[in-house]
Amino acid sequence: MELEKAIKQRTSIRTFKDEHIPVEDLKKMVQMGGTAPSVNNYQPWKFYVITNKRLMENMADLVKDKIEKIPENESKASKNIKSQVEWFATFFENAPALIALTMEEYESVLEKGVTVSHEDINKMRNYPDIQSAGAAIQNILVTAVDMGYGACWMSAPMIAKDGLESLIELEEPYSLVAFVAVGVPEKDKKPKEKKPLEEIFKLIE
Ligand SMILES: Cc1cc2nc3c(=O)[nH]c(=O)nc-3n(C[C@H](O)[C@H](O)[C@H](O)COP(=O)(O)O)c2cc1C
Repeated sequence: MELEKAIKQRTSIRTFKDEHIPVEDLKKMVQMGGTAPSVNNYQPWKFYVITNKRLMENMADLVKDKIEKIPENESKASKNIKSQVEWFATFFENAPALIALTMEEYESVLEKGVTVSHEDINKMRNYPDIQSAGAAIQNILVTAVDMGYGACWMSAPMIAKDGLESLIELEEPYSLVAFVAVGVPEKDKKPKEKKPLEEIFKLIE
């Protein structure tokens, strides 16, 4: 598929057909994720690809539990809001595959020569490791479209990050950044309207 078409056709897919994804296809998505630019070519990522249903359900249960424990405010809508958020954070349990992007923090060259802490430098540089992870995720999303799949980037489940890391037996120095749920879309979905170019383009000559 032409690149522009794949980029424009991509939209977040949250419901999937019950169709198995061949491992080779999942490998291809990860390979393309791994070709993304990263700070100093640090390639901070490791991708855990999960197709084990039981594990995915256990992961979703952890997320549900976390959301349920968040105290509700007085508004009438609060219960509804929580159940909506719960769905947007846990639908991955019904996806044929889940790609968990994990990352080790970037250690800037600067850290070796100054007294500023790792955390402060990372913040000063606007979290280049997380930015790199974002580039990898977008590559995965576009590759999925190109291959006839649909996918959704997910940060909401990170509310249960520590528990999820234990469930997938993630080892230091890696930590979980985001999920990408992948599968064959249940139905065709039209991409969302995006802001017109005039609104987002500013040329400084
Ligand atoms: C950083 C990030 C985190 C996101 N987390 C979630 C999520 O947890 N659950 C979800 O359903 N969608 C999530 N999304 C998808 C967005 O809701 C979606 O991209 C947005 O509504 C625009 O729609 P589109 O992807 O179809 O263009 C996330 C997207 C990004 C970029």
